[in-house]
Amino acid sequence: MCGIVGILAKRPVADLLVDGLRRLEYRGYDSAGIATLTDGKLGILRAEGKLNKLAEKLKRETLSGTIGIGHTRWATHGKPTESNAHPHATDLVAVVHNGIIENYKQLRRELELKNHAFKSETDTETIACLLSDYLQQGKTPQQAMAAALKRFDGAFAIGVVFAGHNDLLMGARRGSPMAIGYGDGEYYLGSDALALAPLTDRISYLEEGDWVEIHHDGVIIHDETDKVVKRKICQTALSGKTIDKGEYRHFMQKEIFEQPTVIADTFSNYVTSENTFTLPKLPFKWKDISRLTIVACGTASYAGMVAKYWFEQLARLPVEIDIASEFRYREPPLPANGATLVISQSGETADTLAAAVYAKKQKQYLLAVVNVPQSSMARLADVVFPTLAGPEIGVASTKAYTTQLVVLLCLAVEAGIARGNLTQQQAEKILQALREIPAHINEVLREEEKICELAKSFVDKNHALYLGRGALYPLALEGALKLKEISYIHAEGYPAGEMKHGPIALIDENMPIVVLSPHDRLFEKTASNIQEVSARGGKIILFSDKKGVAAIGAAAFWSMALPSVIMEVAPILYAIPVQLLAYYTAFAKGNDVDQPRNLAKSVTVE
Ligand code: G6P
Repeated sequence: MCGIVGILAKRPVADLLVDGLRRLEYRGYDSAGIATLTDGKLGILRAEGKLNKLAEKLKRETLSGTIGIGHTRWATHGKPTESNAHPHATDLVAVVHNGIIENYKQLRRELELKNHAFKSETDTETIACLLSDYLQQGKTPQQAMAAALKRFDGAFAIGVVFAGHNDLLMGARRGSPMAIGYGDGEYYLGSDALALAPLTDRISYLEEGDWVEIHHDGVIIHDETDKVVKRKICQTALSGKTIDKGEYRHFMQKEIFEQPTVIADTFSNYVTSENTFTLPKLPFKWKDISRLTIVACGTASYAGMVAKYWFEQLARLPVEIDIASEFRYREPPLPANGATLVISQSGETADTLAAAVYAKKQKQYLLAVVNVPQSSMARLADVVFPTLAGPEIGVASTKAYTTQLVVLLCLAVEAGIARGNLTQQQAEKILQALREIPAHINEVLREEEKICELAKSFVDKNHALYLGRGALYPLALEGALKLKEISYIHAEGYPAGEMKHGPIALIDENMPIVVLSPHDRLFEKTASNIQEVSARGGKIILFSDKKGVAAIGAAAFWSMALPSVIMEVAPILYAIPVQLLAYYTAFAKGNDVDQPRNLAKSVTVE
């Protein structure tokens, strides 16, 4: 989940590398570095901390050179110090790396016995040393690369420059994405096309096992058997413009406020004003599907959990939902005529990608709901349902989540009709409610101040509980995750009915209990749970509608009435206050909202 860029040009590349890294900072931001070649000699600059530290250093210590590589790190092996920052180099090579070399300990022992001195705690340094070892044995850089790649276990992408070779930039991909950019007399390597967008819109992607040698006069791609292969060059529609925060303090705040627009965009991409679906054609009929398996990580997995309620209730379709890191190693049997749906903002999350590969091998139809249409998951899937959220920069997912829900509800309604479980009239009622969601979200956003005030009372809390029932239970999990991620307050999401089986023991006046409960068919059940908490001195923060707020009355310590909506779309609307609460708590604590500690936006390692 680190970000990699590489440039082979005829102009100085140091600043261009840093610009590229800026667009990859969502992948990690605990340290950064670049390496360039000047007259064949390696020059390296690295800095602990965010990319700005490296940019400042670059102003003081210039680095010339027209070929180079850069890296922004999310630490896996070794603390985020300057000595562990990439590039890792010997006198002969400099390497940047994303992923994990799983057999690095064994390789390191072997190389140490040959007197290679290691300067860091990273697995990456074994790549640099192994390449050097092969070079010292007389291999060419290409031979060294081909030989080294066969020694590594794990999933990774790497970029390499070689001392004395001003005309050679190399890269490789196994499990982690890598794009090649084709410019005007120059070439680029990048962890994704976004990093290269200001430089070029002509991109090709390395396929699994590929490695590439880039020269001034062209690009040579080899497959995993070292055979020269061709990979298609495509045009990306990604904008090279810098994505900025506009009038907002943080990207997360901006992204929360973009939701009415991006939800409307996503909805109208799939449903016409006459309520006709324009969803991509499926390679199967919904009524022939025996089971839908949904797999995802993090926030996307909670979108998947909501979808389970929808598909089961609206389409009577059995659904299994699993966390990708469990699914992939559990290797569950998947039924004949089954479909697997992966959900991912980035489309690159390593565990979800591996789960998708597994599902395909098990002969499942593979559907993908992704926000990055050129991503690895999108390229693997039989059918792709893009969310039209636009680039999401804040590490805590907001607009990607709600747009995922929009796509998933549309799919569940389509399945409901196709399976004869929903009438056209029932379907239209849901679609109409979805159409009105942006306006309702705007109403909630206008209450921002009220939630900002509430958040101040969370600042000194160490723990919080989120409760919900039905399709709002996954939102309770998501609410707790949001709060944890950016405010660093320990929070747990629970099905409201499960409170009495344990968590109720935690209740005291210091623990806020956030209850998400519209006045729907399950409201009375949750109301009883609220009374149980209240009777024990717990402080209830209630998000409901007018009817619900009135019914709970003084049993809630704080409450907010959201617009009244039908049950099916409530998980989308109720996401907004949950996001605002986490945002304002983190803001009040003075935390780095967009780049919270220890996290990264795109998790391309296991
Ligand atoms: C990281 C992010 C989360 C995200 C998860 C899955 O943990 O911090 O916000 O939900 O990855 O990412 P994906 O790109 O697959 O949706």
